[in-house]
Amino acid sequence: MSTMNRVMPYAIGPKAYETYDRGAGMDISHLNGSNRWRKRIVGIDSKLPLLDGRLVSYINLDNAASTPPLWDVLEAILRFLPYYSSVHRGAGFKSRISTAAYDEAHEIIGRFVGADMDSNTVIFGKNTTEAINKLAFRYPLRRDSVVLSTMMEHHSNDLPWRRRAQVVRAQVTSDGRLDEDDVDRLLGQYGDRIALLTVSGASNVTGFVQPIHRLARKAHAVGARILVDAAQLAPHRRIDIRPDNDPEHIDFVALSAHKMYAPFGAGALVGPREIFLQGAPEYQGGGTVELVTLGYVRWAELPDREEAGSPNVVGAIAMAMAAQAMMDVGMESVERHETALTAYALDRLRSLPEITIYGEADPQRTQERVGVISFNLGSANHALVAAVLGYEGGIGVRSGCFCAQPYVASLLREAETEKAQWGRDPLAGDNSGKPGMVRISFGAYNSFDDVDALVEMLRRITRNEYQGRYYPIPESGEYAPAGHRDSMADYFDYLHSPCSANAAQ
Ligand SMILES: Cc1ncc(COP(=O)(O)O)c(C=O)c1O
Repeated sequence: MSTMNRVMPYAIGPKAYETYDRGAGMDISHLNGSNRWRKRIVGIDSKLPLLDGRLVSYINLDNAASTPPLWDVLEAILRFLPYYSSVHRGAGFKSRISTAAYDEAHEIIGRFVGADMDSNTVIFGKNTTEAINKLAFRYPLRRDSVVLSTMMEHHSNDLPWRRRAQVVRAQVTSDGRLDEDDVDRLLGQYGDRIALLTVSGASNVTGFVQPIHRLARKAHAVGARILVDAAQLAPHRRIDIRPDNDPEHIDFVALSAHKMYAPFGAGALVGPREIFLQGAPEYQGGGTVELVTLGYVRWAELPDREEAGSPNVVGAIAMAMAAQAMMDVGMESVERHETALTAYALDRLRSLPEITIYGEADPQRTQERVGVISFNLGSANHALVAAVLGYEGGIGVRSGCFCAQPYVASLLREAETEKAQWGRDPLAGDNSGKPGMVRISFGAYNSFDDVDALVEMLRRITRNEYQGRYYPIPESGEYAPAGHRDSMADYFDYLHSPCSANAAQ
């Protein structure tokens, strides 16, 4: 391919796209070195074994599940730990440093989503699931309140609401896009009974990005607020919840640090202070109170009253450092890189025989999606494809229903049958027939070479050119190669700490 035909880095749009040379594929060698994030990923150069014993660099295409940590995050933790101590209750110097760092972490997460911290609060917890459960407990709902949601939600943005209110769900179109006409219809039907509209900012199955600000305007028009489950949005797009008095303001945001390059056990809920100042916190105990007598409790200020017990200080600092690093590099450049990568991946995947890509498969329509792509290869079992990619390609992907079973079932068009939902016989412990898909998901550090390696392996799978003999594991529904045992202890164990070895000398 001549250099004339090279697509410019990140220049994905109708014009640039026309410069793809479909025959030869796009020459992307000049792009791979330009990814600034790559060098900042812990473990990017780890060599791991394939089934045949060869050592290769691991390719992680499972970032929607969890991202590896940034060096920036690890370095901040190591810098902080010598000063680590209890927060808020200690008078010592280390406690004062730790308290200041922990408090600032709240401010940074507020900035990350553009929140006015005079009127909003940032509450740290474990993850998005906990954040949404917290809100489901704390949000003022009447007996007849309706929570308006969608058919594309992760279980974590569905099950917590079922316990608390009548949940109505807007449909998705046949290709899995949110049907906004149905949102309008439901808003008209339930009107001011709708207390909250809750949507994922980006789908963890198809990558579709929701028009959250337009939805916010619609929710506010009927007197409801809006929650954005930003687990899949935050690592890929700039979030700006906008001023509180803006009709398109996002009221609540839920986030997970382990999907934002900071897997140290933290997550956050951002929302209006007034909501959490009403009533009592769900978890009560140390840290949540200012005054306790045998008959009286005065709750502490925010966010303390909502962060019961000793907080995950290190996790919060890790999350804040990741957010700061992402703001420094600029979410716009993250988006540009991932958009180009997604377009390239779609283009290459579509060249495979018998592939079904769920959702939007057009490489030119990448603006309304993040880099999450789910597919199936002919009639090959999704878990088998994932296993071959892992064992023989050194490529980590996910397969199954991705904790979004109703959505995946609707995309597979198999929702009606119990069998399709639950596989062969789950009561007998056999999950091997479970329906599902293979999912790849990009982080900002993935390269075009990663896509090429994936497509090459998928091509081999379509031709049955893989080495192992794989068998299904009934309990998990996963596949494993016959006669193989992983040697985990060669890579990590608890027995051989270099510190204890040094101490023994
Ligand atoms: C869209 C979406 N929402 C919520 C969650 C739950 O996130 P966590 O497991 O970090 O609580 C996920 C996790 O994959 C997700 O993709």
